[in-house]
Amino acid sequence: MDFPKLKIIKAKAIEDIGLKTADTLKALPPHATVAVSGGSTYKKIVRIWRDALGGARFRLFPVDERVVPFSGPESNWGMLERDLLDPLDWPLSKRCFVEIMEGDAAHAYQRLLKKVFDEPMPRFDLIFLGVGSDGHTASLFPGSRDLDDDTSWVLQTQSPNPPRKRITLGMGVIRRARQIVIIMTGPEKAPVLGKILAAADPLPIVRVLKSPVQKILFLDPDAAGPLGPNEI
Ligand code: 6PG
Repeated sequence: MDFPKLKIIKAKAIEDIGLKTADTLKALPPHATVAVSGGSTYKKIVRIWRDALGGARFRLFPVDERVVPFSGPESNWGMLERDLLDPLDWPLSKRCFVEIMEGDAAHAYQRLLKKVFDEPMPRFDLIFLGVGSDGHTASLFPGSRDLDDDTSWVLQTQSPNPPRKRITLGMGVIRRARQIVIIMTGPEKAPVLGKILAAADPLPIVRVLKSPVQKILFLDPDAAGPLGPNEI
């Protein structure tokens, strides 16, 4: 399956991916809008950024969030604050998220986005995505009708795995970004990578890969599996 404007980079290690993406972030203008995913991959990447970003400061948003207190270990925004924003004394004006309220989380985030993006649909400068072993991305899960919603800015979704209640940027917003970076690391991602490259199933990440925007897919050797590694 040929995906448009996709570059696949097979890195020697996740550290190289972190440093390469830090260089991309450092080249952004200060008003740039960047959305970052959560999960274990970005927990590792963010720690590399913490030591590599220097004085770069851009407007940071979460791609998705679990509806849990920020103080808990499962919060994506809490991870970003603890591991990147607080240690780098990130300006409050560039921390673009809202206190999660149980019933109003998606609307609250959408209201914030409407203050930032004065256009019919947000267009982020850069969106960082991970991929679950089931092919989900953000908090858009396989088989969900959410995948067909190309107009909602923010959706409240249900994860098959706890924490179940999520909010997420909608597929239309993700597919409209100026650039999308997808990072897959670890051996547990090799099987789903094979499905993705074959575009065998209508996986959420496949819908993203079919979008006509600049995309880079970073792989470490474990996720790349049969695909041979090369320098970044
Ligand atoms: C989340 C993430 C999610 C993540 C993938 C991959 O809230 O969990 O936003 O989309 O990127 O599930 O997660 P891992 O990096 O932990 O495999």
